[in-house]
Amino acid sequence: MSDSLTNTRPDKAASLSAAGDKTVLQAVSLVKQYRQGSSTIDVLQGLDLNLAAGERVAVVGRSGSGKSTLLHVLAGLDTVDSGTVTVRGENMTAADPNRKAALRGAHMGFVYQNHHLLPEFSAVENVAMPIRIAGGDNRTAIEQAGELLTQVGLAERLQHLPSELSGGERQRVAVARALAGNPAVVLADEPTGNLDSETAAVVMALMASLCRRSGTAFLVVTHDVSMLGEFDRALRLIDGQLLPYDN
Ligand SMILES: Nc1ncnc2c1ncn2[C@@H]1O[C@H](COP(=O)(O)OP(=O)(O)OP(=O)(O)O)[C@@H](O)[C@H]1O
Ligand SMILES: [Mg+2]
Repeated sequence: MSDSLTNTRPDKAASLSAAGDKTVLQAVSLVKQYRQGSSTIDVLQGLDLNLAAGERVAVVGRSGSGKSTLLHVLAGLDTVDSGTVTVRGENMTAADPNRKAALRGAHMGFVYQNHHLLPEFSAVENVAMPIRIAGGDNRTAIEQAGELLTQVGLAERLQHLPSELSGGERQRVAVARALAGNPAVVLADEPTGNLDSETAAVVMALMASLCRRSGTAFLVVTHDVSMLGEFDRALRLIDGQLLPYDN
């Protein structure tokens, strides 16, 4: 498997070395509140984040600290009260819904705690979907999806439906799908939260490894501090701000 990983998207890996410090995702002074009747929950309180091309960053934080909210805001799926999210140099916060969706489709992949695979489609069809949506022809999409599934160790499972896969295999399909279409950044929300610790470690290491090989930036929120070694840096979300994890 490591050989196929080594050969992943050499075009992108090459371009990364020329612009290794380029910011792909930036958040500046994000403020997000939820209002419930007369009370207000201050979730993001002037949060800043810079994610460089190919950088792998883990965000840890207690339940309710705002990790999922942060990912939704970074993906343009939720609004902010103030502050700006910039994706590949373009202001996403100011974009209209269609442009937000286009930016998301062009530059972002997602992995969720629950795989979110389409149950009536095979593994290879699930992974091919984002490539098709991005305008890839059917044959190319299926070919690329097969390659990605091979890289996550599922070459023998291409035609399986999600219900015919184990939990760890389903998450590996979800990882392959997130990387389909060559996004600049993969955002993952507790991607191993439903797996046993051994399988979780395998899936997390695989995700980090694939992102490294393909030059894809990787932002993951997790409760599990045992896996921080897979990342370039770790941050803690506390009081609505991101701080270095060891602070
Ligand atoms: N739509 C909403 N309306 C009102 N409050 C919300 C809404 N969504 C989230 N919250 C509140 O915002 C806070 C942050 O929620 P969020 O889901 O981002 O936390 P989290 O860090 O992802 O937690 P967990 O680790 O449990 O997934 C919580 O206190 C939550 O109750
Ligand atoms: Mg959450």
